[in-house]
Amino acid sequence: MIIMELAPSPDRVDPLPEPSSTAAPLSKRAQKKILKREKWLAERPQRRAEEKAKRKAKLEARKRDNPDSRDDVTYSQSRKKLKEIKMADSSCRVGVVVDMSFGHLMHQRDLGKCCKQLLHCYSMNRRLAHPMQFYVTSLKGASLDEMKRHHGFENWDAHIHEEDYEAVLPRDKIVYLSSESENVIDNLSPDHYYVIGGLVDHNHHKGLCHRLAVEKGLKHARLPIDEFIDIKTRKVLTVDHVFKILTSVTEGHSWKEAFMSVLPSRKGAVEKAEGEEQENEPQAKSSE
Ligand SMILES: C[S@@+](CC[C@H](N)C(=O)[O-])C[C@H]1O[C@@H](n2cnc3c(N)ncnc32)[C@H](O)[C@@H]1O
Repeated sequence: MIIMELAPSPDRVDPLPEPSSTAAPLSKRAQKKILKREKWLAERPQRRAEEKAKRKAKLEARKRDNPDSRDDVTYSQSRKKLKEIKMADSSCRVGVVVDMSFGHLMHQRDLGKCCKQLLHCYSMNRRLAHPMQFYVTSLKGASLDEMKRHHGFENWDAHIHEEDYEAVLPRDKIVYLSSESENVIDNLSPDHYYVIGGLVDHNHHKGLCHRLAVEKGLKHARLPIDEFIDIKTRKVLTVDHVFKILTSVTEGHSWKEAFMSVLPSRKGAVEKAEGEEQENEPQAKSSE
């Protein structure tokens, strides 16, 4: 079921409670936190004005350097243009699902991070000329409460469900992504649904998504990281990094290009030398 009606989201900046005369005196740390927040709130208009001025300066510089480009298009016009590209009309039929069923396993702070990553995924998809078919499933309970802090997600051009992905998608087309899988993805197939576990767990639940996929008898696979790059750190990526890699591949880049552009330099990713890597043609743009 698509969640059609959700309670209006509260303002994202929750005011701090007024200290009451009956309440216990605040610790130094709490007082410092309040002062810091007040300062942050007081400086917000100034920050917004600076950001606006920066955007304007950037636009003017672009116009100066490239007078023939379409730089008469303002920021708000370009945002409006993006909204014209609807997911339903997209030629890309690759489905990507963020499975939000792990809300109960995360502390508030990590759940907040997870929702921010989900927001990032959505905004990346909206900026694609050929958006992927974007699903968010099991959005209920703590995950839904956290998402309600963000204005407008109820109006996203995405399939948002409170049910599990198995209830809304054909089982045989589901591929659960997991770094622990022994299977490796080579192509992203149209009309298949690649599920990313909506989990920020600092490796506390190592192997959980893989275990669940095996228990449910679903297909599962890892990204072909080892096949194309050498990387110093562990290969468990964040939700939005996995999402970005998938967008890059559906846009026609090779896996190697996608990994090199997305993986942060602190992960120490380097391309594999020729001969060491697996054959990989850039993916054709997915179409029906
Ligand atoms: C931060 S990871 C969560 C790790 C968690 N311990 C687990 O059991 O998957 C977020 C999600 O990104 C996807 N993911 C991360 N790295 C991946 C990789 N190398 N290959 C495939 N999927 C990956 C998986 O779907 C994973 O659930």
